[in-house]
Amino acid sequence: MSHPEKFLLAGVMGWPVMHSRSPLLHNYWLEKHGLIGRYVPLAVKVERLEKALRALPALGFSGCNLTIPHKLEALKIVDEVHEEARRIGAVNCIIVRPDDSLYGVNNDGWGYIENVLERAPGWRADAGPIVVIGAGGGARAVVVALLDRGAPEIQLVNRTASRAETLREQIGGPIKVIPWADRHRALNGAAMLVNTTSQGMVGQPPLDLSLDQLPVGALVSDIVYTPLDTPLLAAARRRGNPSVDGLGMLLHQARPAFKAWFGVLPEVTPELRKMIEATL
Ligand SMILES: NC(=O)c1ccc[n+]([C@@H]2O[C@H](COP(=O)([O-])OP(=O)(O)OC[C@H]3O[C@@H](n4cnc5c(N)ncnc54)[C@H](OP(=O)(O)O)[C@@H]3O)[C@@H](O)[C@H]2O)c1
Repeated sequence: MSHPEKFLLAGVMGWPVMHSRSPLLHNYWLEKHGLIGRYVPLAVKVERLEKALRALPALGFSGCNLTIPHKLEALKIVDEVHEEARRIGAVNCIIVRPDDSLYGVNNDGWGYIENVLERAPGWRADAGPIVVIGAGGGARAVVVALLDRGAPEIQLVNRTASRAETLREQIGGPIKVIPWADRHRALNGAAMLVNTTSQGMVGQPPLDLSLDQLPVGALVSDIVYTPLDTPLLAAARRRGNPSVDGLGMLLHQARPAFKAWFGVLPEVTPELRKMIEATL
C-alpha cells in the first residue's frame, strides 16, 4: 500500500474550542477535494499558547485558526504579521512556512466582503456613508475591510464611546465617531448599516436601534449568525431594505486559510451552507 507524501493537518486553537464550527467546515473541504488530512480542535489555554504554536511545525501542522483571546495573544508570538492583521489588531489564522516560521494573518475582513458580494451582487463600498454599530473585534475587521474597499465615510457608533475613539485612532481613515444617543439619527442618508455588536444574538436582547430614518435602498448587514435571522435583519426586511446575514462571513474567511494550508481555494456551496446552518 502506498503512503501519501504528507498527511495534511491544521486546527483551531482555543479554550474552550469544542463549539467551533471550523472542523466541520475544513474537513468537508478536505474530503470534497480528495485531500488526505484532518482539521482538529486543539484545546489550548492562553498561557500555553506560545509553546503550542511553536510545536505546530514539528507536529506536521500547516497552520491553525485561533479563537478569542488567542487571536490577540498570537499577534505578539508569531514571527511575521500581515499588515491587515496588524491594523485589525488580531490574528485569526497562522500559516507554518517552509522554514518553520509562523505567519499571522486575519481573513475576517475578506470573509465579510466576500459574503456581502455573494448575497448582494452589485454592492459597492463607495456607494455612500456606512454606519457601523459596535467597536469590538468584529467591528475592527469589518471597518478595515470596508475602508480598503473604498468606503468614503464610516460613521462609527458604540455604546462605549472611548472604544470607538480608540478604533478610529488606531485604524485611521475617514471614520467619524457618533455618540450612542445619536445612533437613530445617524442612519439618515446611510448607504449601508452594519451591526457588529453582540445584540440580537441568542440570549441577548435585540439591538436597540430604530430604522425609521434609514433609506429603504440601504443594505443592512449583521455579523451575528446565531440566530441567522436576527431581529435587526427581520426589521430591515419588513420595511423593504435588502439584507445580508452573518453566516457567510464565517464560511468565507475560511477559504483563504484552506488555500494557504492545503493549496486549493474552496467554494462556499449551498450544500456546505446548509450543513453549517443545521448546527446553529
Ligand atoms: N460572522 C462572523 O464570522 C463573526 C465574526 C466575528 C464576530 N461575530 C459576531 O459578532 C458579535 C460581536 O463579536 P466581537 O468579537 O466583536 O465581540 P466584542 O469584541 O466583545 O465586542 C462586542 C460589541 O458589542 C457591544 N455591546 C455589547 N453589549 C451591548 C449592549 N448591551 N448594548 C450595545 N452594545 C453592546 C460592545 O460595546 P461596548 O464596547 O460598549 O461594550 C462591542 O461594541 C458576536 O455576536 C460574534 O459572534 C461574527
